[in-house]
Amino acid sequence: MLQHHTPSSCYSCPICGSSLQSKLSANSYNCQNNHHFDLAKEGYLNLLPAQHKRSVEPGDNKPMMQARREFLEAGYYEPLAKAVASLINANQAEHLLDLGCGEGYYSRHIEAHCASKLILHGLDIAKFAVRAAAQKQPKANFIVASVNRLPYADQYFDFLLKIFAPSNPLELLRVLKPSGLLLTVTPGPRHLWQLKEFIYSEVHEHLLTHDLPHGFELVDRQRISYTISPNPQQRVALLQMTPFAWRANENVQLALKAAIELSIETDFIVTLAVKTAP
Ligand SMILES: C[S@@+](CC[C@H](N)C(=O)[O-])C[C@H]1O[C@@H](n2cnc3c(N)ncnc32)[C@H](O)[C@@H]1O
Ligand SMILES: [Zn+2]
Repeated sequence: MLQHHTPSSCYSCPICGSSLQSKLSANSYNCQNNHHFDLAKEGYLNLLPAQHKRSVEPGDNKPMMQARREFLEAGYYEPLAKAVASLINANQAEHLLDLGCGEGYYSRHIEAHCASKLILHGLDIAKFAVRAAAQKQPKANFIVASVNRLPYADQYFDFLLKIFAPSNPLELLRVLKPSGLLLTVTPGPRHLWQLKEFIYSEVHEHLLTHDLPHGFELVDRQRISYTISPNPQQRVALLQMTPFAWRANENVQLALKAAIELSIETDFIVTLAVKTAP
């Protein structure tokens, strides 16, 4: 079944920048210059033209996406997902964009726990991830695109979500309404400490930078930390989700699997900021 992509012109053409209009009967979008984009059968839209790609398969690859889905669906980050959903509800978001949405775990959680009037959009540069997200959540609007060139109309969103994902500050400002909100989740100082101990001979606290992008002011900051005890296979999946996975050779993976009862600290910094620029 194809998803309910918003028929209005929230999208802009990634080639010429003019507004994209949907032809619902044909399940495709066109701009006035006849650039044309079809909805994939899973219901997502690919708005990343080949000339904007730096590699053939940018972003997370399929094994990384599958590792993330396996680990997240086991529920280990549910306290974070709950905190995110309650901030979205408390602020009565209407048009929300999940930047670097990955395989859609947080978007699904938000749909299940937030007000039904919320219109959810998700974007990632990795096609595998977007396809997987769209398959599981037909009501949300997923696209393949880069955070550096957001193919949305100016000031379309009132809420942006950025969970362990990159962004481009100017693009964040452009697509957000005046007084719109930006919710960011970044690793806290002790995030995954015990996992890192398997890789680094000396583990250092992750340095916190409290800088907000230009044009934003702080509304609220929370630190969420607790310990998790994933099973051996889930520990390896967790490792594959991290930016330091590439440092872990086969011996590290074996040691990680062999450890008995490993408790791992999570540490998340959840920052809510408001757009103050006009
Ligand atoms: C660490 S993952 C986080 C995924 C998801 N937010 C989560 O927490 O499960 C970072 C995501 O950003 C995506 N990504 C990396 N560079 C990107 C870019 N330039 N534009 C859009 N997404 C990008 C990756 O493909 C990946 O899915
Ligand atoms: Zn165009």
